Amino acid sequence: MITVEHLVKRFGNFTAVDDVSIDVASGQIHGFLGPNGAGKTTTIRIIAGLLRPDAGRILVNGHDLAIEPEAAKAALGFIPDRPFIYEKLTAGEFLRFHAGLYGMDEAAIDDRIREMLDIFELGKWQHELVESFSHGMKQRLVMSAAFLHRPKAVLVDEPMVGLDPRGARLIKDVFRRMSAHGVAILMSTHTLEVAEEMCDRISIILKGQIIAHGTVEELRAMAGTPNDELTPVFLKLTGGSGLQEIDEIV
Ligand SMILES: Nc1ncnc2c1ncn2[C@@H]1O[C@H](COP(=O)(O)OP(=O)(O)O)[C@@H](O)[C@H]1O
Ligand SMILES: [Mg+2]
Repeated sequence: MITVEHLVKRFGNFTAVDDVSIDVASGQIHGFLGPNGAGKTTTIRIIAGLLRPDAGRILVNGHDLAIEPEAAKAALGFIPDRPFIYEKLTAGEFLRFHAGLYGMDEAAIDDRIREMLDIFELGKWQHELVESFSHGMKQRLVMSAAFLHRPKAVLVDEPMVGLDPRGARLIKDVFRRMSAHGVAILMSTHTLEVAEEMCDRISIILKGQIIAHGTVEELRAMAGTPNDELTPVFLKLTGGSGLQEIDEIV
């Protein structure tokens, strides 16, 4: 559903994304795991159509982002790491605005907004201004918007940062539910625990390059591979508490 082929992005003479390929099938939650600065946000922003790559190809729902950007973007939802919301709108108004951007069928909008507000436990606050919302509430509102137009694929950049355990649990449950309905989810995280707990498959990125990919089990099976960069990551996957952030071990 999301296919990334040999993506390259340079900033000046620095290569932030270096030949990255990722494939996310329908119904899968794919973890994009790596330390800070590895190139996750840059990759995700390219897939979202916000940054132009120097090389490579992206297909969303079979549409090449470079050739049919509108069709590709219509099939996508995007949850950025630092979302922008118009604070002077109410939650309901924000979702309505979003529905308009995606050209949703007018007759279906109200029901779908109600459904999203319910799922993300925001129904009670739908008439409140966004500026009064907590970080977690804003996060859930942005997620409501990302799923509103029934995208086939959703990009999520570091969704668990700054959330309390209850908020994190809710989001995990919703992602599971959405993937069970066939949505392909590509989720970046710098936390091994989050990737292990939530993802069907994981691609590990280091310094702009994918150094390993597979299911958690497959990555564990590879753990014996003698490789200076991979071994600590895999050792961590095989036996550690899983709580340590990947930054500390690479
Ligand atoms: N606009 C930019 N100009 C120059 N360098 C950038 C820019 N955006 C990101 N980078 C660099 O690219 C690398 C990857 O960044 P990023 O994709 O944000 O990593 P991650 O999301 O994995 O933490 C970092 O070294 C970062 O400093
Ligand atoms: Mg990032």
